[in-house]
Amino acid sequence: MINNILEKIGNTPLIALINNEEPNLNVFAKLEFYNPTGSVKDRAASYIINSLLNQGVINSETTIIESSSGNFGISLSAYAKQKGLKFICVIDNTTLPVNEMMIRLQGAEVIKISEPDERGGYLLNRIRKVKEIVENTDNIYWVNQYENPLNAQAYYNSLGNEICLEIPRQKLDYLFMGVSSGGTITGVSQKVKKQYPNAKIIAVDVEGSVIFGGQSRKRFIPGIGSSLRPKILDSAQIDDVITVDERETVSACIELLEKYNIYAGGSSGSVYAAVNKYFQMHKVDRSVNIMCVFADKGERYITTIYNPEWREMIESYNLTLA
Ligand SMILES: Cc1ncc(COP(=O)(O)O)c(C=O)c1O
Repeated sequence: MINNILEKIGNTPLIALINNEEPNLNVFAKLEFYNPTGSVKDRAASYIINSLLNQGVINSETTIIESSSGNFGISLSAYAKQKGLKFICVIDNTTLPVNEMMIRLQGAEVIKISEPDERGGYLLNRIRKVKEIVENTDNIYWVNQYENPLNAQAYYNSLGNEICLEIPRQKLDYLFMGVSSGGTITGVSQKVKKQYPNAKIIAVDVEGSVIFGGQSRKRFIPGIGSSLRPKILDSAQIDDVITVDERETVSACIELLEKYNIYAGGSSGSVYAAVNKYFQMHKVDRSVNIMCVFADKGERYITTIYNPEWREMIESYNLTLA
């Protein structure tokens, strides 16, 4: 028995994605959307808030603030509320209504940025807004997931640890993870490499993201990718990077649903597409075990990835680029 559903973090299912056409590729998906609010980000939000309270960095009167338009905002609003902390979430015009609604329903104050910044996106203006509020508010803590070492530490101790516990049962050759703030891949790669140095860590990014030196471009699917390179990534242990485009992401999500009944979010599709793309380029002549992290669930993408009209819009946008 547990007293609160929010305590049920981790021990997420590991599912084999059996593909008879590629018998050498043993692909396993770690379904992180089985965390309490539906994404991997619960691990970071709960760890960060608990660590800050335990270390006395924040107290019951502290306001938490973060710029997030998706899963992290949802997770932080839930865990801040659980601890009776005020939470301000700075979002923007592109935030999906379902995410904004969840953040508000869980008691957060939402500030929405509608003015694009000089790069045409919203991130810089969101961060400016956060800094302005921090300067003018007493007893406030900016989580700053792109730079906060606690973000990577959370994944080192939770998801990284859990993956290492699976490895004696399922030897690990490759681990594929999507990247945005870099918290997941930094923490998990440090933990896994420490115990299993031969496991290859593959970072998955999307076209239009600048994290690994790509050209900045409009992106439609929230989750992975970023218009700035996160500082915490400097200590990640990454062997290779693979980039997919949003059409590959969408097709992979549909395939996951049709073939495996897995109704997953965008970055899970990107990671699955990346596995297939990677092993088309790097053929293997022996059986290899590949784990991929599926970060969130499909419901949040019902108006986008799983909506045929939206898919047509993405298709024609990409045709204009070609
Ligand atoms: C759906 C999804 N996948 C993957 C990630 C990447 O996680 P991280 O920020 O730890 O790099 C995120 C982060 O927001 C996400 O929302």
